[in-house]
Amino acid sequence: MIDLLHTPEGVRDIYNGEYRQKLEIEHAIHEVFIGAGYMDIQTPTFEYYDLFGSDIGTTPGKDLYRFTDRDGETVVLRSDFTPSIARCAAKYFMEAQDTLKFTYKGNTFSQTSELQGKLRETTQMGVEMIGDGSTEADAEILKLAYDAVKAVSSKPFIISVSHIEYFKGLCEEFGISGEYELMLRDYITNKNFVAARQFLLSRPSTAMCLSDDDIEKILKIETLAGGREILDKAASLAHNERSLAAIDRLRAVHNILKSMGLDDCISYDLSMLNKYTYYTGVVFKAYMSGVGDCIVKGGRYDNLLKEFGKDACATGFVIVIDDLLQAVRTPSNEQKDDYLTFALTKGRLADKTLELFEKIGISCEEVKDKDTRKLIFVNDELKLRFFLAKGPDVPTYVESGVADIGVVGKDTIIEEDRRVYEVLDLGFGKCRMCVCGPASAAELLKHHEKIRVCTKYPTIARDYFYNRKHQTVELIKLNGSVELGPLVGLGDVIVDIVETGSTLRENGLTILEEICPLSARMIVNQVSMQLKADRIRDMIEKIKALGI
Ligand code: PRP
Repeated sequence: MIDLLHTPEGVRDIYNGEYRQKLEIEHAIHEVFIGAGYMDIQTPTFEYYDLFGSDIGTTPGKDLYRFTDRDGETVVLRSDFTPSIARCAAKYFMEAQDTLKFTYKGNTFSQTSELQGKLRETTQMGVEMIGDGSTEADAEILKLAYDAVKAVSSKPFIISVSHIEYFKGLCEEFGISGEYELMLRDYITNKNFVAARQFLLSRPSTAMCLSDDDIEKILKIETLAGGREILDKAASLAHNERSLAAIDRLRAVHNILKSMGLDDCISYDLSMLNKYTYYTGVVFKAYMSGVGDCIVKGGRYDNLLKEFGKDACATGFVIVIDDLLQAVRTPSNEQKDDYLTFALTKGRLADKTLELFEKIGISCEEVKDKDTRKLIFVNDELKLRFFLAKGPDVPTYVESGVADIGVVGKDTIIEEDRRVYEVLDLGFGKCRMCVCGPASAAELLKHHEKIRVCTKYPTIARDYFYNRKHQTVELIKLNGSVELGPLVGLGDVIVDIVETGSTLRENGLTILEEICPLSARMIVNQVSMQLKADRIRDMIEKIKALGI
């Protein structure tokens, strides 16, 4: 039999009707860009590593495809177009005073994690407008994004808008800077307000003299999401010029968009802080049902061109064509679009979750039936769907968007490392991630000798030993009853969950080191957070009001 070759993970062939549709989408979007006066530009598929280095604030190094060419230079497959366009603009249009408008199309490459159903090569089309720092330019870019999506689909979508300076102004007001600002930004970008609160409460820098009251004021950014009215709320919460100027800018942009009749699909979310740190002003993302990630992302980046020697402000956006294609090919599904879908972790966590949900009026009698073999439960009256899944699968369902909301242990969230918003610590399912073993193994942990670690949680174990303890270990993945490892001599210690401690006691093992506390968390899909914002935010507020 012939052994047929298939493509590597994360890349795919695309042909026939699907490819035709992709080409049609690209053509329609290109017409919109050209019609708006943008000039085609093509940049190379690979560039010097420095173009995407940490100074530029783009893709993290570990996600880049990099290699050494014959001359010993480190080059990378582009992961993002914006730095390439900025480099071009500086090189070929250094003296240009007029506004430059470029449009591009091509593939980008990023090493996503394995087996997560994510593409490592995606087609992107975008525009960059260089040399115009006006409010009108911000509005023009948003309008162009709107027109481009409209040109290919009649499905509803939302453009969520923010301004980076609002957050930066808050940080300045409260003395949060440097790496601490970046860490806080990271938590807030991921809507991980649980971690943001813990981080601020730990007051990691002496420069951060934060009172509990200050911390609550900073975290109010979580509530700044919704229609035009949240801009007034945001202004009332900020007491610094940077944040207030950001709100004034958003108000001015809003007025222009309103005059264009676009305000219906625009919402604001001041905790949306793009992960690329080169952004400086108005930023935005567009969301459509049928795909778990945003379909458009962009914004103002006034300092990036300086890195290449040209002092010019700029703004732009990119459309992820593969995600847009998926969204367009997924027909609107009333059941899915109108219903809130929950993925719950089977077993005790699901029971506790349902108990909690009942307190806020979310219920489903069918799920409680212990004898049923059904997998999906529906409450049509309340427009709710539930499914019960194994813990590690819950973040997978939520990331992809087939579930809007999930409830799962923090251990699983860390281990699975999915792009989901971690919005609430539900306070139950409390336990600890620990290094355990026979008491005699304590000595081994003190030295930097190689030890064998059995675990169901290799990511957590690797991070703990390599990044926190700087100790070389041999990880052995087990799928359950991990305590057996040291008992039968497969390993020296285990990294595992300890709840009551009885499993350890009954097997003559003990806690040697504690890695982190754990509990059940509520996670939310990022598209659902925008498209079903009212229902989800209402639910979060109701749970918080229970004193959790
Ligand atoms: C978990 C964990 C420990 C045990 C800890 O196992 O892996 O073995 O619970 O709980 P305790 O401190 O209350 O004794 P689980 O029962 O989920 O099964 P598993 O070992 O097959 O993963």
